[in-house]
Amino acid sequence: MVESILREEWGFRTFFEAGTQGGFLYDPPIMDSAAGPVYEYAGRSITNFSGINFLNWHQDPDILIHFFDNSLRYGLVTGGSRMTQGISRPHAQLEELVCRLTGKERGLTFASGLLANIGFVHAMSSALRLDKHCRIDNRDACFVLDRDSHWSLWKAVQHLPYGKQVFSFRHNDVGHLRQVLNKLPNRKAVVIIESVYSSDGSVGPIAEILDVCREHGVLSFVDDANGFLVYGPKNRPFATEFARLPDATFIMTSFSKTVGLEGGILLGPRDVIMAFELLSGTSMFTAAIQPPTAATIHRIIRLLHDNPSIMDQYLVRVAAFRQRLSGRGYRLNPTPSYITSIMIGSDTKAIAVRKAFLAANMNVPVFRYPAVKPNQALMRVILNRSHSDAQIDAFFETLDRIRSEVKF
Ligand SMILES: Cc1ncc(COP(=O)(O)O)c(C=O)c1O
Repeated sequence: MVESILREEWGFRTFFEAGTQGGFLYDPPIMDSAAGPVYEYAGRSITNFSGINFLNWHQDPDILIHFFDNSLRYGLVTGGSRMTQGISRPHAQLEELVCRLTGKERGLTFASGLLANIGFVHAMSSALRLDKHCRIDNRDACFVLDRDSHWSLWKAVQHLPYGKQVFSFRHNDVGHLRQVLNKLPNRKAVVIIESVYSSDGSVGPIAEILDVCREHGVLSFVDDANGFLVYGPKNRPFATEFARLPDATFIMTSFSKTVGLEGGILLGPRDVIMAFELLSGTSMFTAAIQPPTAATIHRIIRLLHDNPSIMDQYLVRVAAFRQRLSGRGYRLNPTPSYITSIMIGSDTKAIAVRKAFLAANMNVPVFRYPAVKPNQALMRVILNRSHSDAQIDAFFETLDRIRSEVKF
């Protein structure tokens, strides 16, 4: 009885049935190996173009040994809250290192980037009174988001009223941001942007946006999940946009992309970030990064910092990949970042493209509505450093064949 109410009144039967029929809902593929440039699935060897951990550190033998050594030394979990039990030495070293690299005073790690984003908004918009003197009340704060901001940022502000405490501006449109801020004089506001948008691979006009924030006397928050350790150095693309990143009031980054493990960090002024220990909620009321993971993240960051040629070479390969695509007439996202989107268009054709790639033993991420607007489906390919030239050639052959069969 109760279960039938759940299915009928709550709408799960229709959703499930239509979802599976429409190809939206399916069991996730179960991998029988590590998720690298190739993985084992249903007894087949699949070339994988879906991984976001594109440098594939987690299959590096030295990295695995480092993880193992630190598991023996620090155990697998902190097993308690940061404030009551403490953090492990690797957490402290990681927070210090990322502060040094980003030019920020203090960092606070979280189990994921999503939790860091949710914790940030919570910390900046809540009230807490611990005694007569120790109190804070920022329930009047407001947040101004780029419209293409990541789900975690929109989720973070969801409980706040749109139009009163939450505002948005058109994607990467500095003029529109200025207009929105002009209507918010004397408000305690934070402008929220990303450095590289996973939605379309575009790079935010970071310097101009930080200038507008300064003109209006408001705070800034840059989600650098996709730019961290990729962009910034003068010899790399988008050096001008990234040069001003350290001037943002707050920076967040995720360790699931370039570093390729799991975790996130919020960085900013020392006293404010310390206050976030109590105010973010997602630091105190959930698990921390596992200690060996924190130690391994630290190791990978040091490796990338001390050996810039790793990223330089990766970016050269990505540029060649992109050029090869445009040379064959594919429609791509306009910004040549390492996130390459190949436009398909029709949602129905997108399903056919995904299936055809799988039949050819390739997993290519195809995004369609609701991940993107209806009938603006695309393939989002982040090249893996460990893909061989032969695997990339095979991708191109298959892509050309599918394009002529599906006609996109
Ligand atoms: C811009 C952005 N912010 C935050 C996140 C969440 O990071 P994590 O995977 O560490 O939770 C992502 C990951 O997809 C992202 O692309």
